[in-house]
Amino acid sequence: MSETSTQLYPPPAEMARTAHVPGFAAYQALVQEADADHQAFWGRLARDVLTWRTPFTQVLDESNAPFYRWFEGGTLNASHNCLDVNVERGLGDKTALIFEADDGTITRESYRQLLARVCRTANALRAMGVQKGDRVVIYMAMSIEGVATMQACARIGAIHSVVFGGFSAQALRDRIADTGASLVITADEQVRGGKRLPLKAIVDDALALGGCEAVRQVLMYTRTGGQVPFVPGRDVKMSELLPEQADTCEPEWVDAEHPLFLLYTSGSTGAPKGVQHSTGGYLLHAALTTRWTFDLRPEDVFWCTADIGWVTGHTYITYGPLALGATQVVFEGVPTYPDASRFWQMIHKHQVSIFYTAPTAIRSLIKACEAAPAQHPRHFDLSSLRILGSVGEPINPAAWTWYHEHVGGGRCPIVDTFWQTETGGHMITPLPGATPLVPGSCTLPFPGIAATIVDETGNELPWGQGGMLVVKRPWPSMIRTIWGNPERFKKSYFPEELGGTIYLAGDGAVRDEQTGYFTITGRIDDVLNVSGHRMGTMEIESALVAHTELVAEAAVVGRPDDTTGEAICAFVVLKRARPTGEEAQRIAKELRDWVAKEIGPIAKPKDIRFGDNLPKTRSGKIMRRLLRSVAAGQAITQDTSTLENPQILTQLAEVN
Ligand code: WTA
Repeated sequence: MSETSTQLYPPPAEMARTAHVPGFAAYQALVQEADADHQAFWGRLARDVLTWRTPFTQVLDESNAPFYRWFEGGTLNASHNCLDVNVERGLGDKTALIFEADDGTITRESYRQLLARVCRTANALRAMGVQKGDRVVIYMAMSIEGVATMQACARIGAIHSVVFGGFSAQALRDRIADTGASLVITADEQVRGGKRLPLKAIVDDALALGGCEAVRQVLMYTRTGGQVPFVPGRDVKMSELLPEQADTCEPEWVDAEHPLFLLYTSGSTGAPKGVQHSTGGYLLHAALTTRWTFDLRPEDVFWCTADIGWVTGHTYITYGPLALGATQVVFEGVPTYPDASRFWQMIHKHQVSIFYTAPTAIRSLIKACEAAPAQHPRHFDLSSLRILGSVGEPINPAAWTWYHEHVGGGRCPIVDTFWQTETGGHMITPLPGATPLVPGSCTLPFPGIAATIVDETGNELPWGQGGMLVVKRPWPSMIRTIWGNPERFKKSYFPEELGGTIYLAGDGAVRDEQTGYFTITGRIDDVLNVSGHRMGTMEIESALVAHTELVAEAAVVGRPDDTTGEAICAFVVLKRARPTGEEAQRIAKELRDWVAKEIGPIAKPKDIRFGDNLPKTRSGKIMRRLLRSVAAGQAITQDTSTLENPQILTQLAEVN
């Protein structure tokens, strides 16, 4: 359970007057407008925020719910909205991207230059035979080129699927195979924290694993110029193909529902799911939330520290800020390199006014700044900041207060934005000029988002009572389906028990009895949130048992962790006798490395405990809730009478 504090922080007076949503009454008016006529509300905003090639004729088609269709009859292009429209508005010379490399090198690109780059890239993709509807997997370093390749796919109607650069060859292969991609775009290496990490070599390994026969070509951006394998005939260098291309490119006008991208995320069971997003509805919410939640103004410098491999990087780097003509920072590196003052230095250097990061980054910086006081934000001039944001996991009040006081100088509202890969953009969040803040609470739904809390049978619960978070009405940027698996889409998000048309978020939540403010209490399924990264316990278990030589059985649970929010704890039964001492440590290391190879370093279990067995019911079911208590170091208070082998709990409680 996350705690909330009861202290209220009202919006700064100036912001309550001048923000896009000025004051609580303005927020309430929008909520009422949406309540009164949901479709008219979204229709008005879709016309106001986006530029359509052909206007839509119907706002929402519910005839095949939960496969909702938005903005029927409308055509547009996402890249046209993000680039051409801004150049036409007179923002051609405005800086779109300020790229800061790991080593501090800075590159700026104006809207006009970015448009030309995206056009050259789009023409290159067309020259390689990529057509509308084809899937392109992007396994890239954080870079201007990374953002541009996503935009280039959108420009020609190709569906991108970005895979985070920390995933292993095996995980990359699975995603390439599931999308049936014909092209993979990558970089030779990526540079983070002073280290070079291979990307191209991992792509080669992924393709060699088989199952990706649809891939005809690999397009490579030369980031470091390091020695990397090159397959003649299959591999193409951006540096050779792009200069030949024209820097104009007619956009492919697509239907509002045309898939813009797929992004894989973890569910409670089975393989990661390819979450499919649309063009029109997604782009609308990306732009609208950037405008209202961050109160974005023309003079702002926006910085979202997420990687483009996650949904936050999609919505709040590649699409939202660009759709509004914003200037934004794109950062290649990590918060603690060369030291923990990197963020503060960058905020000052680039005069960042809106800063959006994850609680896990804040917590690790608090620790680092305690250890090295010279790196504390108080030594840096952060007066350019106006608004702070938090995303990815609950922010605990202590981290919230530190962020507010030391980074925001006590002046800047913190928008604690709750949302998911599946929701495309913010769902429950304060608006900085409207919503009084309570540390630890994501406060109230974004206008037009019908979020509420229900019990197992779908009955709405009164404020004060915890239950399951749901959304009662469709919204434009909602997930459209799971790629290739519409049945799983229905089962996962629109379960029959709740009537089949209500979106089930997978999180638990409770509303404050007085204010109605939401607090997210954590996932109600077997999904973990480690440093803001979603991981399925089953995925990690499958990776462990895939080590068939060593592992007989494995169960994975999360436990609270001060820095990463949750930590992965694996309980493992080996095919040999239970190891102890040094042997246990050696095998634990081998298994961690194995999981890194199977999924990626982010999935490495922090704790590995060995047992002769796992706690099971008489019918053979692993009792995970007991394992969660053991992992957290708590005394077992639950009923263990149905347990076949209660003595196993003592053994598993031992730390190697
Ligand atoms: C969690 C990231 C509390 C939640 C945008 C959700 C949060 C999952 C918050 C989605 C928040 C995200 N407060 N919990 N402000 N934001 N979460 O798909 O459990 O990577 O279901 O999307 O992160 O993670 P995802």
